[in-house]
Parts: sequence; structure tokens; C-alpha cells
Amino acid sequence: MTTELEQTVRKLATLKPQVKGGLDQAGALQLPESTKVRFEKYGVDYARGYPEIPVTEKIPIFVDEAEQFRNELFEVDDRGKYADPEKKALFGAAKEVKHLTKHIGTEIVGLQLSELNDKQKDELALLIAERVVVYFRDQDLDPRKQLELGKYFGPVEIHPQAPRVPVGEGGISVIWMDLAKSKGLDLSFKRGGGTAHWHTDLTHELQPPGITHLHNDAIPDVGGDTVWVSGYAAFDKLSPSLQKFLEGKKATYRSLHTYLDRENPLKGRKPVVREHPIIRTHPVTGWKSLFINRAYTTGIVGLEAEESKVILEYLFSVFEKNLDIQVRFNWKPSKKGLGTSALWDNRISQHYAVWDHEGLEPRHGTRVSTLAEVPYLDPNSKSQRESLGLSLD
Ligand SMILES: [Fe+2]
Repeated sequence: MTTELEQTVRKLATLKPQVKGGLDQAGALQLPESTKVRFEKYGVDYARGYPEIPVTEKIPIFVDEAEQFRNELFEVDDRGKYADPEKKALFGAAKEVKHLTKHIGTEIVGLQLSELNDKQKDELALLIAERVVVYFRDQDLDPRKQLELGKYFGPVEIHPQAPRVPVGEGGISVIWMDLAKSKGLDLSFKRGGGTAHWHTDLTHELQPPGITHLHNDAIPDVGGDTVWVSGYAAFDKLSPSLQKFLEGKKATYRSLHTYLDRENPLKGRKPVVREHPIIRTHPVTGWKSLFINRAYTTGIVGLEAEESKVILEYLFSVFEKNLDIQVRFNWKPSKKGLGTSALWDNRISQHYAVWDHEGLEPRHGTRVSTLAEVPYLDPNSKSQRESLGLSLD
């Protein structure tokens, strides 16, 4: 039964002014030229308003509604499990396979993601699980093909309220900080904000994303890089005593979006909060990973708030200060008009989009995330270095 107050709040929430389609009415914010060319080539109708904003009535207003969203378990079956460990089909077809750093990041040269066969896709899934993030420059990619690849890896995340590419039922999110800025997000040289902070996507979900594919089709001439850091390596940086202490412990993860409390709708907004293991096992590699991030991990279950704060601060710093387990990638294609793709495993990484271009040149991307298993720790699993026979010192 809905109360009168609840009905009023719901009505007010749906009365939010919305710019139709999201494009700036005054014409100040235009879709980047290279994005237009891509969309026109592949028949994406952006003229009626872009990006598509999900129907306001369907966006959760109360926190209990948001908690119910995707609250049922579903099966996932990682394609990486079916791959040839030597990845002969993928590597054999590539012009070059470049490992960008020792511990994270590989670039595949000379292949189009849209043309991979299933064997190569399975091998790519395994490569992402091992190297954390894999890059493909100079891509000519239909957004529908991007969605199709995501669906090959598993169920695709459809966000209830994030801006999306107007294709079918959704599933292709728009990553375009210029839009957020045009809608009032305070972004400047001093305040990077937006995606310019260390985070892992959607960690409050019951089954957070695994393979996440961002295709940038508008890329600044200089800058606009993204940095990723490995959760496997972060775990290997810890002492055996701290590893033991954390194994089996859970943390709380909050959502980015916030909602109203049905009982107390006028008392401010609350995020969705879920618990997951701090150390989780990757189902394909069997390696342990440290699964926390500064943006969304709020506490360690079972510890006093002050204890939790001190330990989490240290764990965040392991990701953020160890440059040897990070990779910084510049997206620029070698040929104008083409885009660049990064496919990372969200279960074993954090990322940070560098805001050095200050929005003075457009940066626009489309993202497809495949949802993965409920995070778990297999007590018999090993760390990456242990498994590879590397020094644990
Ligand atoms: Fe992100």
C-alpha cells in the first residue's frame, strides 16, 4: 500500500525537468563529429535526441525498489574456461601482441573485434582474465556488434537510469563526461570528478560486472588517458599475515546513485548497499584478487568503524601508489576516424579516467558490461604469483 506522502514524492521525482534526449537545447553541446560518423554509418538514430534516457517512471525512486532491481540470481558461464590456453587462434591472427607492462595490460594489433570468431572470443576472454585489460586500437565498430560481443560473454548489464545509445532494449551505456558537465556536474582542472577517481564499476550489484568493454569513438588529440590497476597484484603486495586476516572477511559496497527511504522520504537520499568478500577468486584463472575500491567500499564487516577506516585506507593505497601494477593507456587511434576499445575484467581491477583534457576536446564512448558470478572466495585458490611460480617476496 502506498501512502499519500509516498505518492507525492513519486510524483515530484517524475516531474524532474528532462532535456529531451539529453542534447543541449541551446546547441552548445554537440555530438562529436567522429561519433556522428560512426552512428550514421551503422544506422544509430541520434537525431531524435541523444543519448536515450530510460523512461523516468521506470527509474527506482525508493531504496527498496532499487534493491529489488536485479536481485535474483542468474547462472553465468565464463567463456574463458573454454579457451585454448595458448590462444593460438587469437595470437596467430594478430599482427602483434604487445604486453604494455609486466603485470597488467596487453594490446592486440591488427584485428577487428567485429570480425573475431567464437574460438578467438573465448581466447580473448581468457586473455582478459589473465592480463586484466586488453586493448584494440583502430576499430571500426558498430555499436550493435559491441553489444553482440558483450552478450557472447554473458548477460549484459542494462542500467535503469544511465544514458544509453538508442539501440533496442538498451545495454550500451554512454560514457560522455561533457554531457554530465553540461548538466551541471562541477568539472574543472582543480576538480576532476566524474570518472576521474579510482573505482570499480557497479560493485554494489548482487552479481557485479566481469568483462567490461569501453569503445571510445571521440578521443582528445592529447591526453584523456585511462589508468587500470590489477587486483591480483594488489593481493600479492600484501603480507601473508594480512592476506590471512582479510580472507573470508566481507566488506560493504554502496551504489553511485541514491534513492529515498520509503519510511522517511524527506530525510535525504541513501545508496543501495551490498556485502561481498574482500578477497575473491576469479573463476577462470583461479587466482585471488583484492576486491575493494575507494569510491564504493564503505567498511569491513565485523570491525569497528575506526579499524575498518585505517585498514581500508591502507588497502586503497596499495592500488593507488604501486605504479608497477598499473597501466596507463592513451586511446588515440593511428588513423583518424577510427575508435579504440579497452576490455577489462571488472572483478580484478580498478580504473581511473584522467581528466587532463578538461573537456576542451570531446571524449565520447560506448560501454557494454557483462555481468558475472556472485563474488566468492575459494579457500583452495592461489594468488597469481603463487600460481605462476614467481617470488612471493
Ligand atoms: Fe568506470
